[in-house]
Amino acid sequence: DAMPKEMNGYRLLPGFEPDSAKVAYDQMEINESDILIASYPKTGTTWVVSIVHQILYGDNPADLEKYSALQFCFHYLEFGAVCKYEVFKKISFPRQVFATHLPEPLVNMKKFKANGAKLIYVIRNPKDQAVSWRHFAKGFAFAKSEFWKPLLPEDEKEFYDVYLAGNQYAFAKKGEGYLECIKEWYKHKNDENVLFLVYEEMKKNPHNEIKKIADFIGKPLSDEQLNNVVEKTSFASMKKESEKTAPDNNEGAQFFRKGQIGDWKNHLTVAQSELIDRKVKEILGDTDIQFIYE
Ligand code: A3P
Repeated sequence: DAMPKEMNGYRLLPGFEPDSAKVAYDQMEINESDILIASYPKTGTTWVVSIVHQILYGDNPADLEKYSALQFCFHYLEFGAVCKYEVFKKISFPRQVFATHLPEPLVNMKKFKANGAKLIYVIRNPKDQAVSWRHFAKGFAFAKSEFWKPLLPEDEKEFYDVYLAGNQYAFAKKGEGYLECIKEWYKHKNDENVLFLVYEEMKKNPHNEIKKIADFIGKPLSDEQLNNVVEKTSFASMKKESEKTAPDNNEGAQFFRKGQIGDWKNHLTVAQSELIDRKVKEILGDTDIQFIYE
């Protein structure tokens, strides 16, 4: 059975390794051209990573392919075995792009900041996040094991009940989840070298948000380049591209499902939606976050 692991009370899904997270925290070298994309799962991580890759390397398809392939193998700080850090040292990237789903206390933000690296954090409304999560979790190879079956129920309503009660080892402490993670990261909202993005704003106005990202990482784009990045990172283009490289991925976990705002209306019960509203008030009520639900 694939068993989850814990790190300082935070519960991580199988595949996410405390040992690797620790090496990232204690030993990994960071420099000022590095970019860390942090997020909770299913909030648009893959999208933001692709936008950053397109901005950095989009003018040169060979570079884009080379660097995005390499980085996709390794780029979640805490994902996979610790030996990847040995491999990392041997490959030189012009600019390193990392991602992480770790909660803020498990990422060495002091080091990232002291070294001048940049952080991008993306949030999405918690109702669409939950729906995306459920569809993604259907692809987990371990979902049918004795341990996981009750935690990842097949029944849709039950699934959301377990998830919203914070019982799925989803990068948070027992009983907690996405909203608590946002709260911890949100402390950095106004820090230097930090950019907060909103999935729904990227959907509604990709030109605007992609321009923001490009300026933030110090690689402003011409109008033509901007249009090109918008085109290459649209949901349709990215989905099509992913089908080329993994044509029979339909059984596994899906990174490109619908890419829409408001699909939660087709999946959550009224009670579940109201529970989320209450939790948002309770946990994020003292921040200025206003989620966009449609
Ligand atoms: P849905 O399941 O709602 O479709 P992550 O990369 O953090 O795992 O997030 C995955 C979610 O982002 C999925 O949501 C996926 O479809 C959506 N997504 C991926 N690429 C996208 C794009 N280019 N535009 C809009 N949404 C995208």
